[in-house]
Amino acid sequence: MKGLILSGGKGTRLYPLTYTRAKQLIPVANKPVLVRVIEAIRDAGITEIGIVIGDTGPEIREAIGNGSQFGVEVTYIEQEAPLGLAHAVKISQDFLGEDRFVMFLGDNVIEGGISPLIADFANHSEWNSQIVLTAVERPEQYGVAKLNSDGQIVRLAEKPKEAPSNLALVGIYMFDHHIFEATNAIDPSFRDELEITDAIQWLIDHGYSVFPHIHRGWWIDTGRPDDMLNANSLVLEELTPQIQGYVDSGSEVDPRVTIERGAEIINSVVRGPTIIGRSARIVNSYIGPFTSIYHNVVVENSEIERSIVLEHSSICDIPARIQDSLIGRYTNVGISALRPKSIKMNLGDHSHLELL
Ligand code: G1P
Repeated sequence: MKGLILSGGKGTRLYPLTYTRAKQLIPVANKPVLVRVIEAIRDAGITEIGIVIGDTGPEIREAIGNGSQFGVEVTYIEQEAPLGLAHAVKISQDFLGEDRFVMFLGDNVIEGGISPLIADFANHSEWNSQIVLTAVERPEQYGVAKLNSDGQIVRLAEKPKEAPSNLALVGIYMFDHHIFEATNAIDPSFRDELEITDAIQWLIDHGYSVFPHIHRGWWIDTGRPDDMLNANSLVLEELTPQIQGYVDSGSEVDPRVTIERGAEIINSVVRGPTIIGRSARIVNSYIGPFTSIYHNVVVENSEIERSIVLEHSSICDIPARIQDSLIGRYTNVGISALRPKSIKMNLGDHSHLELL
């Protein structure tokens, strides 16, 4: 089997972070979501992976390279515009050939990996496709499946106004080569995209076998800032803690904390689950649960909880606790030493600041 990861898109719902960064490269528990996806596919025994890229292709190529650092072999497939998931499959036909494949959206994080699913599909060579469904609160924001009383798929609809069930299509799909007949046959949808949901409906309508798998763990499509924070909390809970950095005798570090190489914790309290990245410095501070501090970050005389701080940023002397926040790269949050005493801001477009 081969793997196909979709890593295009503009990430508009994560502005301003994604003005300068592909959304799939934002780290969750200090590892980019895209790397988590690659590792999940590799752990299921698949090493030939195609990555469909768009405008942010150059930085994805730079971060992932040829894949050898993750034990896989990556082929890049360029999509000239975000014309839909089925369009991405269509332009990947040369790479996929006649092989069966798993398609995984590069911004999805799922509990427990995909090895059991892949094994299921691999053991059923008569299945043309398998899709993953999970119960959600707002199905109308997703592709939605209606099943009959035997658990077979009756109908699929992309972002229906009135959802026929609460079962959303998770961004993980398995196909054989018949999917290309479908992607060549369907027309663009209301949002002018070739929808994978419509392609799967086409398979069903033409007598191909499509099997559902109901996922019962958590699943997050990391489209919005709060999704990133939720995914971060859930993945942090799955980490096996390790202390590779330095903790001084004046600090108190909870057992569920990971401290990466070269990080220093000085006179501080760190509560888990939390991760402190390479060469970060935490001084006279409190780092609360569900926080990811990425590499080369400095936190001094401050308190932060349930947040993600990206690389090379600093948070110093903040009098109130920072909570539920996403702080970008090379960002300084501090108190001005100069008069007049005032709040000085240098925020990018679409920034969001809530003061006391
Ligand atoms: C896409 C699919 C949708 C699926 C979702 C999962 O939606 O079109 O069927 O439920 O991914 O993340 P999009 O992210 O393009 O809105």
